[in-house]
Amino acid sequence: MVTSHGLHVLVVGGGGREHALVWKLAQSQRVGRLTCIPGNPGIAALAECVSLPLEPAALAGWAEANQVDLTVVGSEGPLAEGIADLFARRGLRLFGPSQAAAEIESSKAFAKAFMERHGIPTAAYRAFDALGEALEYVTSLPEGPLVVKADGLAAGKGVVVATCREQAAEALRDLMGGSLGQAGHRVVVEEFLAGWEVSVLAFSDGTDILVMPPAQDHKPLLDGDQGPNTGGMGAISPVPGVTEDLMAEVEQTILRPAIAGLAGEGRPFRGVLFAGLMITPAGPRVLEFNCRLGDPETQPLMFRLESDLLDILEAVVEGRLGQVDARWSKEAAACVVLASEGYPGPYPKGRSIEGLKEAQTLPGVAVFHAGTALAVGPEGASEGSALGLVTAGGRVLGITARGTRLDSALARCYEAVGLISFEGMQFRRDIGRRGA
Ligand code: AMP
Ligand code: GLY
Repeated sequence: MVTSHGLHVLVVGGGGREHALVWKLAQSQRVGRLTCIPGNPGIAALAECVSLPLEPAALAGWAEANQVDLTVVGSEGPLAEGIADLFARRGLRLFGPSQAAAEIESSKAFAKAFMERHGIPTAAYRAFDALGEALEYVTSLPEGPLVVKADGLAAGKGVVVATCREQAAEALRDLMGGSLGQAGHRVVVEEFLAGWEVSVLAFSDGTDILVMPPAQDHKPLLDGDQGPNTGGMGAISPVPGVTEDLMAEVEQTILRPAIAGLAGEGRPFRGVLFAGLMITPAGPRVLEFNCRLGDPETQPLMFRLESDLLDILEAVVEGRLGQVDARWSKEAAACVVLASEGYPGPYPKGRSIEGLKEAQTLPGVAVFHAGTALAVGPEGASEGSALGLVTAGGRVLGITARGTRLDSALARCYEAVGLISFEGMQFRRDIGRRGA
């Protein structure tokens, strides 16, 4: 965990994505000390976990006091609050975009207008601040599916894919009536796009970009893309059907114009730009931009990254990404998420998790923790008595595996999944089986 040489790297977050980042950073020869705030019981095996409020000023104070050389922020919340700006003012190095650049994710209305200004392909849309106007607009459209999105950050709950105008109107009344608080006071109504989805992520230092291999999330809870949307029930990389030509088109028509556009508007983007895309018969269209790595896309992507992650993160922070290259394994990787009973709704906590040790020893498999906790032993239990691992979140674990082909990676994932159990465990049995 600590060696005398090397950098002190701090990862901010405590989900599966952060566990995968810590797992990858722990393999770097150049990382000396690795800390995670707040971390989780899985991360604790690889890094020192510190409990602190995820609040920019508290984190900057900790980083300063503990001589952190580089801070890596996993989720959008602190970025939208301006953690990168605060660290920069205090002379602290941080991987992640400024508050202004993070607006590409934190305001859907900004993102849509930005794409329009720069000719980036996306669904046609209108933005509204007043319910009456939004309802009038929806009524004026021909009958059919429509998508309603809250402007602000809503932890994946801000998008309603409505099958008809009446459902869209209901979503508008709901969102603009305050169901998500401030996030829904402004809304975007957009054209429904048919096709299949892929996530393309790129590192950027504000000028240059380094595009990662394609990944694919599986957002609906149930097999066959049925049931409610979740934070993501599994991910694969590469993605069947994503050709080199398609990746080149995404880079040329979406990623490069976005990075150049943000720089041109005085909001240079340094970090990971995530494009959530719908591949339509007319070509790729942006569904959303995120200002950070995806969860669970990061889990298979970190499995495939052969280069030292720290080298890339530092090149981004130092504005010399053009000088580095990344090597990616030709192997495939997949992640299957195990979720709590009731998720994405309310879920119980504290259910005992069995079989992790056996699953972890399978070759080519890693178990990334997302919502786990160590059970508190009975009072008076002797020090060192075996304390069990219990569920503590909606998404509990991300079982990740590699294989020469996607099929073999998935077979290993599901073999590991078969060894793990907790009461009410939910998971999809068709990750990576969607086809293109
Ligand atoms: P977002 O958070 O914007 O990625 O939206 C969440 C999910 O809603 C996406 O992964 C898509 O499945 C769906 N979605 C968003 N926008 C559209 C659209 N314009 N047409 C069809 N589906 C959409
Ligand atoms: N996997 C989608 C996200 O991280 O937003």
